[in-house]
Amino acid sequence: MPYTLDDVTRIVLQAKEKAYRETDLEPEPQYTTEVEWPIQCTVGPGLEGAIACETKIGYVNGAKGWLIYRGYDVFDLCAHSTFEETSFLLLHGRLPTAQELDVFCRTLRRRMFIPRTQRVLLSFPVEERNPMDALRLGTNLMRQKQTRNERDNTGEDTLASDDDSIPMETKPEGRKHPVYEFLARLFKPVTVIEPTADVVPDDVESFYNLIAGVAAVSATIGRARQGRMPLEPLPDLSFAGNYLYMLSGRRPTPLEERVMDICLILHADHGMNASTFASMVVASTLSDIYLAIGAGISALSGPLHGGANVEVVNMLDEIGSASAVPKWYKTALEEKRKIMGFGHRVYKAYDPRARILAPLAEMLAEEHPELRNTYETARALEREVVATLGEKKKVFPNVDFYSGIVYRSMGIPADMYTTIFAVSRVSGWCARVAEYIENNRIFRPRAIYTGTFEEKYIPVQNRGEN
Ligand code: ACO
Repeated sequence: MPYTLDDVTRIVLQAKEKAYRETDLEPEPQYTTEVEWPIQCTVGPGLEGAIACETKIGYVNGAKGWLIYRGYDVFDLCAHSTFEETSFLLLHGRLPTAQELDVFCRTLRRRMFIPRTQRVLLSFPVEERNPMDALRLGTNLMRQKQTRNERDNTGEDTLASDDDSIPMETKPEGRKHPVYEFLARLFKPVTVIEPTADVVPDDVESFYNLIAGVAAVSATIGRARQGRMPLEPLPDLSFAGNYLYMLSGRRPTPLEERVMDICLILHADHGMNASTFASMVVASTLSDIYLAIGAGISALSGPLHGGANVEVVNMLDEIGSASAVPKWYKTALEEKRKIMGFGHRVYKAYDPRARILAPLAEMLAEEHPELRNTYETARALEREVVATLGEKKKVFPNVDFYSGIVYRSMGIPADMYTTIFAVSRVSGWCARVAEYIENNRIFRPRAIYTGTFEEKYIPVQNRGEN
């Protein structure tokens, strides 16, 4: 019998039950108690243990394996919410009313229409570039809308979300600064939104544009890589559904739409990870939100971070089958290789996101026989790694281990997987930047200098050979 949407909810809630059975539910006081700055903390290499700021957005309990967005457990959000609702929650600090959610969904859908950005983006050979590099480029190109001088306040978005109403030869009037600049004195907290209005404060505009636009840019890149033109969003599809449609040109099945929605919810925020921190560091200089998000995309692309999801499927293909796992793993251990999709700086328990993605991958492997071998290989590798490194080094599967299998079931090419991570995480990046900038202080750590002093300068012609 084919799986239904109810089955997906059941799978998520079963994963929650298992997680709750295996972990007790106490927050860690050292990461959940308000502090008086400055504070003392023990910092390891890679800023391990460093506390950079306070936040109300999200909490990762690495010892127990939970993930909380604004007080809500990610298991509950995956079971009952949508990516649109979760993004609203992250940005605005509370769940929307039905009317707010409706406006927000329509706003995002409309802003997935970015013909001007697509036109400029496609003038580059994006199909030849790394998709994350192309995504960063497209994200920066989206800024063009923000050169528009004044919004019309009719409540109607008469322009495409990246359209520029000012012809180049028109003398600019109105705002002295484009709104994408972070001017602390202009920046207002984003917690208030008029429920009935179809307009939002300028500061928030950019966040909405980015959440919708990064998805549209990712889809455009995916299309370009297949030699195809971009597609416009459809009015009857959700954010996840439209993303899949704009990427593949095929209306997703309700099951695919729901599973992608869960993937987007799961990846939306995750503490002070490298890409979030990169975005915040750039924003803390009062740079520009589009450049800040571009920094997040750059950091996410690395194989130690979001890029691991691509590496995982390549690794599983290389292993080839479940029976080949023991030999492959033995060699990997001997060569002291890091196994992609395992381990985490914060989680020293099972990553809750992997708890959800693993059974979803299993469900999809049952629906898609061609995926069974990959799924079985993944399961066998997980058993080996957890048996050898689980107890000893607290190394368990992370979010990237099963996500690739899920995306493969939807026919998405592997090199697009990390862009999907960005499509989701942009809402966390925006929320964290918005929160931090309210009480901004530029990030500026120190390094311990271990070099020499009092070197005598020798002119180049007198230096001889090395
Ligand atoms: N495979 C094998 N051993 C591992 C792995 C792994 N994937 N991850 C950690 N370990 C071991 C380390 O070798 C180390 O052992 P040691 O104490 O004997 O030296 C110990 O576990 C601690 O690991 P660190 O490398 O100190 O962990 P760190 O916090 O610096 O790195 C990271 C975390 C980058 C995620 C690491 O686990 C890794 O490289 N994983 C593979 C890449 C990956 O999956 N990245 C995605 C992470 S999730 C995300 O970003 C969305």
